[in-house]
Amino acid sequence: MPAKLCQRGSGGVWSRDVTILSDRWRGFRHIPYVTLAELPTPIVRVPTLSTRVGADVWIKDDGLTSPRYGGNKVRKLEYVLGDAMAHEADTLITTGAAGSHHAVATAVFAADVRLRVHVVSFSQPWSGHAEQQLRALLHAGAEVHPVRAAALAIPRMHALAARLRMQRRRPYVVPPGGSNVAGVIGYVEAGLELARQIEARAMPEPDAIFVPLGTGGTVAGLAIGLAAAGVTSRVVAVRVVPRAVANGPLINSMIKRTVRHLKGLDERFPDVTRPARDHVEIDGEELGAGYGSETAVGRNAARLAHEHAGLDLDPTYTAKAFSGMLRVASKERAGQTLLFLNTLSRAPAERAPGPRLPDSLRKLLLRR
Ligand SMILES: Cc1ncc(COP(=O)(O)O)c(C=O)c1O
Repeated sequence: MPAKLCQRGSGGVWSRDVTILSDRWRGFRHIPYVTLAELPTPIVRVPTLSTRVGADVWIKDDGLTSPRYGGNKVRKLEYVLGDAMAHEADTLITTGAAGSHHAVATAVFAADVRLRVHVVSFSQPWSGHAEQQLRALLHAGAEVHPVRAAALAIPRMHALAARLRMQRRRPYVVPPGGSNVAGVIGYVEAGLELARQIEARAMPEPDAIFVPLGTGGTVAGLAIGLAAAGVTSRVVAVRVVPRAVANGPLINSMIKRTVRHLKGLDERFPDVTRPARDHVEIDGEELGAGYGSETAVGRNAARLAHEHAGLDLDPTYTAKAFSGMLRVASKERAGQTLLFLNTLSRAPAERAPGPRLPDSLRKLLLRR
């Protein structure tokens, strides 16, 4: 099914009829936007796990943002694709680890708006899940450019963009995780959505919300949206990458740039830079041996999520964030209301069949 596109005005800028942002602040009516997600995503309580851990556990399921391929990337891509189209791009270039959810989501949804996709992929530890993602990326039609190390990915993206421009193409470079200002706006909308759900009594205001921290766009946007709506819950960012990659200053600068951008579009948007920053708390205890490496506590958390909530978590992001929540649920956060934001697609992306990946790509998945 193609994405729903609502064209407004002239000049090929696309936008959606109503978002929570545009409903509340008129200046946001012209933010370029492509409708991909089915919103709002549901919130459920998990009674048996709540009894077991001694805290009131809830889940907001962004795994259901789309039946085709859900997860947190769909909300970001609504604004990233809108921005790319407003720039009249014909090609997207992005990057991620070999098992990247962001790369798969970009390839799946960019096809709807007829954008070609190039992905610069770098290595990560092998897992069955990561291999499935790489197969899904191929199936979605992305052109994959393997590089040996993550440090080579950004220069490679820019070299590719330069080459494409020489061929008179119009590339748009999407940063890792889709976390440019446009992508972060997708999660500002999610924060406002959650605030509305709390107001409508779908759940009590949580003391803490647990979210995996990769490139930081999800956490930054969520914190801005919640602060703009006056919700004071802590956003616990469970770091799944080394501190050099994601840290407080990085999140703070994303918050600052996004709020500045939004205020530039509508000056009545509140300056929530300070409260949004103050509500974020980074949990660095769940990383284990590094990005993409499974942890024993993560495996246990994934088992409990499956048994009590029917959620299948991935080892790289969501199992670690769920584990971060369980670690504090029966100790310093005992008796509190805790919300887990599920950022992993409930629907597996379609994958390329066949027993073997091309050698150049297989090498990206490092076996111990
Ligand atoms: C399933 C999942 N959860 C969370 C994240 C982290 O989101 P962010 O990069 O916005 O920090 C990612 C990023 O790739 C992801 O794939």
